[in-house]
Amino acid sequence: MAAARPIFVVAGVGAGSGTGASTARLFSKNGYRVAVIARGADRAKKLADEINSSGGEAAGFGTSDYAYKSILSVMDEIKSFKWPSTQQPAQIRAALWNAGNSVFNQFLDVSEDDLNLSLQSNVQGPFAFSRQAVLSFRDNELDERGKRGTLLFTGATASTRGNTWTSAVAAGKFGLRSLSQSLAKEFGKENIHVAHTIIDGIILTERTIARHSNMPKAQFEENADARLNPDSIAEAYFYLANQDRSAWTWELDLRPAHEKW
Ligand SMILES: *[C@@H]1O[C@H](CO)[C@@H](O)[C@H](O)[C@H]1NC(C)=O
Ligand SMILES: *[C@@H]1O[C@H](CO)[C@@H](O)[C@H](O)[C@H]1NC(C)=O
Repeated sequence: MAAARPIFVVAGVGAGSGTGASTARLFSKNGYRVAVIARGADRAKKLADEINSSGGEAAGFGTSDYAYKSILSVMDEIKSFKWPSTQQPAQIRAALWNAGNSVFNQFLDVSEDDLNLSLQSNVQGPFAFSRQAVLSFRDNELDERGKRGTLLFTGATASTRGNTWTSAVAAGKFGLRSLSQSLAKEFGKENIHVAHTIIDGIILTERTIARHSNMPKAQFEENADARLNPDSIAEAYFYLANQDRSAWTWELDLRPAHEKW
């Protein structure tokens, strides 16, 4: 039987210019089908269309929020999705949780809603996503690297350090990191690879370019020493997904060359 074409699931692609979208494009170029989960069907479809029209195969799945039940059900849709181009069974082989609604605010200005959003996108949503990914990986045979699947999480500086303005985001990101570590230990023995990244610095996206529009381009946008390129983060994710079982990473940190840390 021909090997099934692997599926890469990514949750959280923003407006299509950041880490989630870059990683989707890279996995697609490397032969994966891509299932895109985004808040809002339009965003998901936009990236899926782009990948389809550049020769890949992608499908978009919208969700209204990152609540536990919403993520369980969007993952069910992905699992039962019929990819039109092939008779081969579809296998989810890699999944990335890249969503995270982060409110940066002084503690006394953090509302209950801000807290809910952070916990939903960094803890509850990822719990549901992980459950579905692990159950799906369990059905896979070992691949040539001795794995059933790779589950990836995007963390941040706030995953290990609280600071002024980060009470809400750090509470969520600490939770995400501890989830990933617990899963890595519980499912490593089933050859399921779980990895967490700490992105320590500003990622170059349409949003961060807009936010730094008062800075000379030479200091931010065009200064490769000063910010993270989402395409470079994508390469790190692809590398993690391709590590073999004898030497794999739980946590990787990434920062630009000139980051002060
Ligand atoms: C992209 O291709 C897939 C698979 O062939 C198809 O199901 C889908 O409708 C296409 N477009 C989008 C936006 O998903
Ligand atoms: C926050 O979440 C809790 C528990 O799910 C819910 O009871 C509460 O109404 C939510 N608060 C807001 C402001 O949405």
